[in-house]
Amino acid sequence: MKSTRREFVRAAAAAGGALSTGLLGGEALAQERVSKKAPSIPRAQESLRILILGGTAFTGPFQIEYALARGHDVTIFNRGKTQPTVNQELLAKVTQLVGDRDNDLAALEGGEWDAVIDNSSSIPRWTRQTAELTKNTAAVYLFTSSLSVHSDNSKIGINEDDPVAQLEDPTVEEITGATYGGLKALCEEETRKAFPNGAIIVRPGLIVGPGDRSDRWTYWPVRIARGGEVMGPGTPGDPTQHIDARDLAEFQIHLIEQRKLGTYSAVGPLSELTMAELLYGIRAVTSNLEISFTWVDADFLSEHEVRAWSEMTSWVPPRGEMAGFSSFDNSRGVAAGLRFRPLALTAKDTLDWWQTLPEERTAEPRAGLDPEKEKRVLAAWHESHG
Ligand SMILES: NC(=O)c1ccc[n+]([C@@H]2O[C@H](COP(=O)([O-])OP(=O)(O)OC[C@H]3O[C@@H](n4cnc5c(N)ncnc54)[C@H](OP(=O)(O)O)[C@@H]3O)[C@@H](O)[C@H]2O)c1
Repeated sequence: MKSTRREFVRAAAAAGGALSTGLLGGEALAQERVSKKAPSIPRAQESLRILILGGTAFTGPFQIEYALARGHDVTIFNRGKTQPTVNQELLAKVTQLVGDRDNDLAALEGGEWDAVIDNSSSIPRWTRQTAELTKNTAAVYLFTSSLSVHSDNSKIGINEDDPVAQLEDPTVEEITGATYGGLKALCEEETRKAFPNGAIIVRPGLIVGPGDRSDRWTYWPVRIARGGEVMGPGTPGDPTQHIDARDLAEFQIHLIEQRKLGTYSAVGPLSELTMAELLYGIRAVTSNLEISFTWVDADFLSEHEVRAWSEMTSWVPPRGEMAGFSSFDNSRGVAAGLRFRPLALTAKDTLDWWQTLPEERTAEPRAGLDPEKEKRVLAAWHESHG
C-alpha cells in the first residue's frame, strides 16, 4: 500500500526521537517510554460542583482524581470511617462533609451542587432522601447501580432494557444476596422519579483494579505472580467480564459533563475476553517464573467444593441460568464514551498496589482459592485424569 506524505512525515518524526538520542530499537523505545509522562487530561469546558455520596472506598477516589483533573469542584459525603488505599493525598483538595445516610443528612442541607454521584446507596430510602435534598440545584443525579439488577442471567447479550428483579417486599432494607439486585433496581427508580430530566444510571459489572477491597479479581494477578501450577477454572474458552474502577470513574464523569442521561451497563472489555486470555494476559506482566496452567472442569470443581466467583474469581460456568452472566452487551455505554484501558495495565497496577498494603492485610485475602486447597484439588484432578 502506498503511504501518503502525511504518514511519511509522522513516521519520520517518530523515528527522529530515537535517532536524536543515538539509540535504536527496543532500547530507544524503552527510553522514550520512561521519559514519557502520563498524558495530561484536558480540562472540561465548564467547571461543575460535584457532590459524591461516598468517595473513599474504591471507585470514589478515582472519581475524585478524574473530576479534579477536569477542573471540577468536588465535595464528598460519608461517615469518615473508610480510609482510601489510593489517592489519599487528594482528600486535601476536596470538601469533606460528614454524616450518615441512615440517619444524619444535616451536613447536606442547604448545599448547592450541579451534579450528584450516589455511590453509597443500595437502599431506596437513602437514594430518595438525598435525591430530594439535592434536586433543587442539581441538574444531574448519577446513581451507581449494578448489573446485579437483572433478574435473568440466562441470555447472552443482556442489555439495559432487559427486566430487573422485583422484591416481594419493597420495604425491606436488609442487603443480602437475595435482595441486593431488587434493592438497587428500586434505587434506580427513586433516581428517575426525583430527576425525571436528569437521571443517569450506571450499572457496573465486577469492578477491579488498584484499591479493590474485595480481593476477587485481584486474586488472579497475585496468584499468577506466585508461579507454580495455577488452577484455571472450567474451560479456557469460558467468558469473563470486568471494569477497571478508573475506566468506570472516567465514564461516569464524562456522562455527567455531557449530560448523557439514561441507563448504561458498564462492563468490559470491548470484545469477548476468555478466561485463558485473562490468565495468560496477566502472566505477561509478571516476572519470568516457573509457571503452568491446568484447566479443571466445572463439574470436578463443584464436586470438590471449589466455589465459582468467590474462590475461582471472575468466573461462573456459562450455562443454564448463568449462561449470560459474563456476556453482557456493553454497546450502549461504548457509544456514550465508555473506554477500557488494556488488561496489562489493570493487572500491573493491581499487583503494584497490592504490594503497598500491610502484610497483615495481604496475609488473609478476602476472596480466591486457598493455596493448600488448590494443591489438593489439582492432585485429585491429575489422579483421576492421568
Ligand atoms: N465492587 C463491585 O464489584 C461492584 C459491582 C457493581 C456495583 N457496585 C456498586 O458500586 C458502588 C460504589 O462502591 P465504591 O465502594 O466503589 O464507592 P466509594 O464511593 O469509593 O465508597 C463507598 C463510600 O460509601 C461511604 N458510606 C458507606 N456507608 C455509609 C453511610 N451509612 N453513610 C454515609 N456514607 C457511607 C463510605 O465511607 P464511610 O465508610 O466512611 O462512611 C465510602 O466513602 C456501590 O454502590 C456498589 O453497590 C460495586
